[in-house]
Amino acid sequence: MITEVASSYLDTFIGKVADRSLTVGVVGLGYVGLPVAHLFTSRGFRVIGFDIDQSKTQKLMKGESYIGHIPSSVVQEMRKRDRLTATSDFSCIAQADTLSICVPTPLDRARQPDLTAVRNTAESLVPYLRPGQLVILESTTYPGTTTEVVLPILQRSKLKIGEELFVGYSPEREDPANAQFTTRSIPRVTGANDPASRRALETFLSSSFEKIVPVSSCEAAEMSKLLENIYRCVNIALVNEMKLLCQRMGLNIWEIIDAAKTKPFGFQAFYPGPGLGGHCIPIDPFYLSWKAREFDFSTRFIELAGEVNTNMPYEVAARVAEHLSARGVASSSARLLVLGLAYKKNVDDCRESPSVKILKLLCERGIAISYFDPHVSGYVSHRYGPLPGVELRELTDDAIQNNDATLILTDHDAFDYERIVRFSKTVIDTRNATARVTTERGKIILT
Ligand SMILES: NC(=O)c1ccc[n+]([C@@H]2O[C@H](COP(=O)([O-])OP(=O)(O)OC[C@H]3O[C@@H](n4cnc5c(N)ncnc54)[C@H](O)[C@@H]3O)[C@@H](O)[C@H]2O)c1
Repeated sequence: MITEVASSYLDTFIGKVADRSLTVGVVGLGYVGLPVAHLFTSRGFRVIGFDIDQSKTQKLMKGESYIGHIPSSVVQEMRKRDRLTATSDFSCIAQADTLSICVPTPLDRARQPDLTAVRNTAESLVPYLRPGQLVILESTTYPGTTTEVVLPILQRSKLKIGEELFVGYSPEREDPANAQFTTRSIPRVTGANDPASRRALETFLSSSFEKIVPVSSCEAAEMSKLLENIYRCVNIALVNEMKLLCQRMGLNIWEIIDAAKTKPFGFQAFYPGPGLGGHCIPIDPFYLSWKAREFDFSTRFIELAGEVNTNMPYEVAARVAEHLSARGVASSSARLLVLGLAYKKNVDDCRESPSVKILKLLCERGIAISYFDPHVSGYVSHRYGPLPGVELRELTDDAIQNNDATLILTDHDAFDYERIVRFSKTVIDTRNATARVTTERGKIILT
């Protein structure tokens, strides 16, 4: 039941959504938060973006983007008529009617959920919360986080949850650089644990997303996001394992997937690669396995998928050494050109990228590496420090020719694959990126 107090705050809130006088707050302006802020400005709302990283807020205020696939012109459009303000001053929280939390949810060194950013964010909101606001956790996390971690912190504000302060969970489904779906056209799952919060959450998000998908609770919404990512992780592991078997049997896994996906029902194509990357698929499943232990439950699919996917960079490194040796080149004297650092095509995101691990493994084998990614320059890995090998600023014909082999780890559209094959002695292709190359196919080794 919605109480009278909640009802009066809700009426004001709903009125502000309707006449667009509502101020949207987005906390965490990264790969997820910035597109979210963009969506709300484009739907006519004023947005205040918060980030502890002042270099980001300063860039945004100058109309500059720091995300490769989001051009600065988009930020400039958001800055027009001051639709977007970006700040590290959390006292401005009081000005916002909604607060979407889009901060990182990584794993710690023991591969357990690290909710430091979520906790810190909730704590930094507390002094400035006021009645009538809606707080939405959007970071990917295990079921129970909103209720067990965020709510107890927000309650320190002394505001009554579900009456004076509305709280919900709505997972982000952003897919950076996906040209087919926009932030607005990807349906949004929403969950809240009291009727007033549910109403506020659904009213707010349906103002800007084409479709919302309400579920019964924060926990159900949290779990739905993990199911999506675990489904992906497990299926990628399956095709990665199939790829290894196909290699042994002399079959081309990509040809086989292309054939299988012609079935009009019951099959969805997933593609193998050099390993998992990004902030989501290699990490999120382990949020659930950690939580499952509380219930004496072992998530065997997740563990098995993790094992298969984690092994892929080692497989690639071993295959490279094998191919070089088959051509009479010892690893200790080999020169290799590596193409692609980002974890997936057409983005600049190298978080958890298998390329970083593979570079390290190849260098340990004594192979002299040069590497190039048209979307990334000067990348330093948090785990491995500066990348081993020599970074190329451009991909010249000479740079390709001067190596014993070229290893393709990311299938960016910006690469000219015909030219790469023409000037390489051998191309070891982990993504089937050279599928459309018509000449000198004998040089290509799919692995
Ligand atoms: N990247 C994706 O494609 C994607 C897709 C769907 C969901 N997600 C989820 O969304 C969440 C955010 O991911 P991301 O890729 O945008 O991360 P990101 O690292 O790109 O951005 C997070 C931002 O939060 C800021 N931040 C950290 N602590 C903060 C704090 N206490 N207060 C304010 N700002 C803080 C960081 O400075 C950074 O700018 C994660 O839970 C992730 O799993 C990511």
